[in-house]
Amino acid sequence: MDADPASDADGYTLFASVYDQWQRTYGAEYADLVAPRVDRRLARLVGGPPRNLIDLACGTGTHALRQARHGVAVTGLDLSRAMLAIARAKAEAAGYPLTLVHADMRSFDLPKPVDAVTCLYASLNHLADAADLARAFERVAAHLRPGGAFVFDLNTRAGFEALWREPGTDRAPGLTIDRRYVWDEGDPWVQMHLTIERRSGETIERGQSVLRARWFEDREVRAALAGAGLALADCTPFNPFPEVERPGIKQLWSATRPGASIRSSLR
Ligand SMILES: C[S@@+](CC[C@H](N)C(=O)[O-])C[C@H]1O[C@@H](n2cnc3c(N)ncnc32)[C@H](O)[C@@H]1O
Repeated sequence: MDADPASDADGYTLFASVYDQWQRTYGAEYADLVAPRVDRRLARLVGGPPRNLIDLACGTGTHALRQARHGVAVTGLDLSRAMLAIARAKAEAAGYPLTLVHADMRSFDLPKPVDAVTCLYASLNHLADAADLARAFERVAAHLRPGGAFVFDLNTRAGFEALWREPGTDRAPGLTIDRRYVWDEGDPWVQMHLTIERRSGETIERGQSVLRARWFEDREVRAALAGAGLALADCTPFNPFPEVERPGIKQLWSATRPGASIRSSLR
């Protein structure tokens, strides 16, 4: 199966304009569901709220904006220009400063190191293989101050089996999204085929998107962290979706760049 993450950014081109509305068909946007868990880890590892943060694969910017609202200087980075355009419009409407960068998380190069890096909603599951994970983690380590924190989530194999198998239809006013999945037994890759229909008055727009994602073994994630010089702090299984009964569909990982803690180095 073609596994180029650049084509996953393409998969978000049409999806971008309805992405937030689609998430709310499940009750709330994912970034809001996981915020307490993420904030707790950032505060514990950094020694308080981070002063600045890079949100990798920021998408439509919900998590980035939440952080900016709390006074954190945020850079959101994504490979999809369409997702970044929505994030930019949201930041302008909310009146919060966000720096938004079109870049690949496997090769980004930003001028200033930060207290924290985040990467949420299984964005790393779009990466092709363990070598890509290692590239992305090496970039994270290069952008963290000593003592800085990296918090990310991944869908587990159990998560793909629970969430990326049965076809379904999600509905919101003026929006219908049909989902179906294609996978080979034993293959970590799954394709999500979306048919998106938007209705406004007499106008109906229909389009198709394909998103590809895969699961990683724990040992691959641990090896990529270690290879990048990041120290694993914690890996916790979790399920943020009240309507999904299976446990352990996701893991929340956190790691630090070894060195003096950021707060003590400010004293
Ligand atoms: C499921 S969305 C998550 C967006 C956001 N983090 C959230 O919580 O809603 C996955 C995002 O990963 C981005 N993405 C995929 N591959 C990428 C890459 N190699 N570098 C940067 N962004 C990437 C996509 O464009 C998309 O915005």
